[in-house]
Amino acid sequence: MAENRNDLSTAEGIWSLRRLPDMDEAQFNQWQTLLEHRTGMTLSEGRKSFLETNLAIRMREIGCNSYQAYYEKIVSGPDAIVEWATLVDRLTVQETRFFRDPDAFRLVSDYVLTRPREALKKRPLEVWSVGASTGEEPYTLAMVLNECMETLSLKPLYGVTGSDISKPAIDKAKTGRFSARKLIGMDEAMKNRYFHPAERNTVEIVESIRDRVCFTRLNVLDLKKAPMHGMNIIFCQNLLIYFRRWRRREIVKRLAERLAPGGLLVLGQGELTDWQPPGLQRVPSEHVLAWIKRQPDEE
Ligand SMILES: C[S@@+](CC[C@H](N)C(=O)[O-])C[C@H]1O[C@@H](n2cnc3c(N)ncnc32)[C@H](O)[C@@H]1O
Repeated sequence: MAENRNDLSTAEGIWSLRRLPDMDEAQFNQWQTLLEHRTGMTLSEGRKSFLETNLAIRMREIGCNSYQAYYEKIVSGPDAIVEWATLVDRLTVQETRFFRDPDAFRLVSDYVLTRPREALKKRPLEVWSVGASTGEEPYTLAMVLNECMETLSLKPLYGVTGSDISKPAIDKAKTGRFSARKLIGMDEAMKNRYFHPAERNTVEIVESIRDRVCFTRLNVLDLKKAPMHGMNIIFCQNLLIYFRRWRRREIVKRLAERLAPGGLLVLGQGELTDWQPPGLQRVPSEHVLAWIKRQPDEE
C-alpha cells in the first residue's frame, strides 16, 4: 500500500526507507543524465544521497520498489508526464526569500528611477522573474516597482511575470499567501504596506501587488516556447548556478533576445564568469551581476 510522506518520520517508515538498496553507479548516471537533459540541473556525486532519499520517498508513496522500475515509469509509463512533474518538484532546490539580494533590488530601483519619465508613463514596464520558485522574488520585484512609481508620482504601470519548472511552486506562488516567518527581518514599513495577516500564522500579499503579478510554468530549457518579448527587466538568480557553463551562456543569450533595447538583465553574483554576452553592456557594480541591452545604433 502506498504510504504518505509523513509516514517516513515513523520508525517503521525510516526502517523501510533504509531497506532500499544503494543506487549503483550505472543507475546514478542514468538519473543524472535524465535530470540534466530535462531540467539542465547537474547532480554531483555528493548529491547522490539527496537523490536516493527523494526517489525513495516518492517510490514509497506510489508503491514502487526498485529504482529501475521507477525510472521506466518516469520515461515511458502511462502516467510519465504527471509523475515527472511530481518528481521534478522534489528534486529542485526551491529555497528563496523576499528581498533575497538587496543590492540587486536596489539596482532595479535605480534603473527604474532613472528611466525617462515619458517612457514610464507611456508603456507598462514589463518584468520577468525566471526561476521564480514560490513567488517571493517576483512579489519583491512588484513591491520595488510600486515604490518607484510612488516616488515618481506615476500610476503603477508595470507587470511582473514569474516562471518556474515546478508546478507546485507556481501554484503556491499564485496563492500570494506565505508563512508569517517569511517576513522576519523585512523592513517594518514594507511589511505593513504590502502584507496583511491571514489565518493560522500566515500573511497575504495585498491585492494591488497580487494583481500586477502573474505566474506560468516554463522550463528555461524551452525558452523558444516562451511568449515573453520586449521585457524591460529580466531577473534570473540562483537558477543557472545548477547548470553547466555552456548551458548558462546559451540561456543568457536566449534571455537577452527577450529584452527590449535598453532592458536590464540581472543574474546572481558569480553565476556567469569570464564571458561577455553579445549585445549586452555590463552594469558597473561590484555587488550585482547585471547588463543593459545595447540599443541597435550602439552595436
Ligand atoms: C533556488 S530557486 C531560486 C528562486 C529565486 N530565483 C531566488 O533567487 O530566490 C531555483 C528555482 O529554479 C527552478 N528551476 C530549476 N530548473 C529549472 C528549469 N529548467 N526551468 C525553470 N525553472 C527551473 C526550481 O524549480 C526553483 O524554483
